[in-house]
Amino acid sequence: MTNSKIKAFLNKKNKKKITCLTAYSKNIAKILDKYCDLVLVGDSLANVLYGMKNTHKLNLDTMINHAKSVRLGISKSLMVVDMPKDSYKNPKEAKKNAKLIIKKTGCDAIKIENNPKNLNIVKYLSRSKINVMGHIGYTPQFKKKFKVEGKEKKEQIKLLKHAKEIEKAGAFSIVLECISKNTSKRITQELKIPTIGIGSSSICDGQILVTDDVLGISGFYPKFVKKYVNLENIVKKAVKNFVFDVKSKKFPKNKNSF
Ligand code: KIV
Repeated sequence: MTNSKIKAFLNKKNKKKITCLTAYSKNIAKILDKYCDLVLVGDSLANVLYGMKNTHKLNLDTMINHAKSVRLGISKSLMVVDMPKDSYKNPKEAKKNAKLIIKKTGCDAIKIENNPKNLNIVKYLSRSKINVMGHIGYTPQFKKKFKVEGKEKKEQIKLLKHAKEIEKAGAFSIVLECISKNTSKRITQELKIPTIGIGSSSICDGQILVTDDVLGISGFYPKFVKKYVNLENIVKKAVKNFVFDVKSKKFPKNKNSF
């Protein structure tokens, strides 16, 4: 099943745009599963759900627990789980932890953030038949400061080389985060695997965003985000109505009682 899902995903390159969103639990995952090609259990949950200042201290158990919940909502889309920063320090640990994530959650693939020193991990996991998604550009696990990458020629050449090495190491896809349009274009054109952009222009083979941003409940909306609904206001209204009904004894009614 997993491999046919990966094949179908790869086949979309140059044919259909690939749609991806994040999920941290079942109910949202179930909705995304109906419409998206890929659902990512992103380590962004460290910031979005746990209020951590970055993703560095997120542990494997927390990721696995959220991924288990997401699994309950997924039946057709490709499910990818982010490996927390400390879970893939060397190839052997990476393999042990990736296998644990897959065993406990039934996900189809894992994602790691790439730096020039961890190509061996992509290679080792891929050779062990683990589907790996790469991630370059702004990689919050390794970079302290936000910066758009690839604007300068020298940087473009470096990113393109890195992307090609990740593909060669066996990754089935790669996230390009906050990479300039021209560089995203070259990477997308020169790689055979699909590129998934976030803040990296429409040229990428697909797009990913953090669902809480899309729904307007994260309170953090960088330039590359499009808020499709202000769910915060909708929830506020519903909560206010509930509070009003309880205080004015309009809820519960007889029909809500036993
Ligand atoms: O953690 C995450 O949600 C991500 C996506 C934004 C690509 O890595």
